[in-house]
Amino acid sequence: MFPSEGTPVFLAPMAGVTDGPFRETVMEFGATAAVSEMVSSEALVRSSRKTYGRLPRKDPWKIVQIAGADPQHMAESAIINENLGADVIDINMGCPARKIVSNESGSALMKNEDLAVKIVESVVKSVKIPVTLKMRLGWDNENVNFISLAKKFEDAGAQMLAIHCRTRSQMYGGQANWSLISELKNAVKIPYLCNGDIKSREDALRAL
Ligand SMILES: Cc1cc2nc3c(=O)[nH]c(=O)nc-3n(C[C@H](O)[C@H](O)[C@H](O)COP(=O)(O)O)c2cc1C
Repeated sequence: MFPSEGTPVFLAPMAGVTDGPFRETVMEFGATAAVSEMVSSEALVRSSRKTYGRLPRKDPWKIVQIAGADPQHMAESAIINENLGADVIDINMGCPARKIVSNESGSALMKNEDLAVKIVESVVKSVKIPVTLKMRLGWDNENVNFISLAKKFEDAGAQMLAIHCRTRSQMYGGQANWSLISELKNAVKIPYLCNGDIKSREDALRAL
């Protein structure tokens, strides 16, 4: 899907931060791809003008991250983006914000595996472009389920995963736990990205 030479380096999506000029700047520094800001599938289906304004237009890889909990609306918003020229649809299963998880979206989907899989299946079935997703290690330390979910998402047709190496209960604090994701190597064949606390080349090399 992405260039296979060397190790890919992605800019993670950040709502309110990774807008067009920010992504362009990061690409000038040699990133493989830069993911645009999360957009609400409900807002896209409602045709919110503000939301349409956030969709990538000039990026070499137009990766649109969608959030939501309704498989049908997630599929419809993926189709809207595909028709607007998106190259990849990324599904948000990592957002910890109360506003998002109270709607069963973002990281709350990790607690509802059946719904999470249904969403991936529904989006994969609806578009021809690759579907990827970003998730955390799990909801909390007692519920670290990213490996079993990764297998289910691979079976459902996801082509790449990004793992934010924290649980939802950690929010954005504490140390990201990179070591756990090495177990993914034996669990799935699709590529996965390691995310969290990578602030320098040295961090990236240690994570690898
Ligand atoms: C301001 C802000 C906005 C974010 N927005 C998103 C988002 O829209 N989608 C997403 O998947 N993650 C989002 N994240 C999470 C980041 O992509 C990343 O997973 C997280 O910050 C961990 O990396 P770090 O330890 O390098 O900060 C956001 C993070 C921050 C700080």
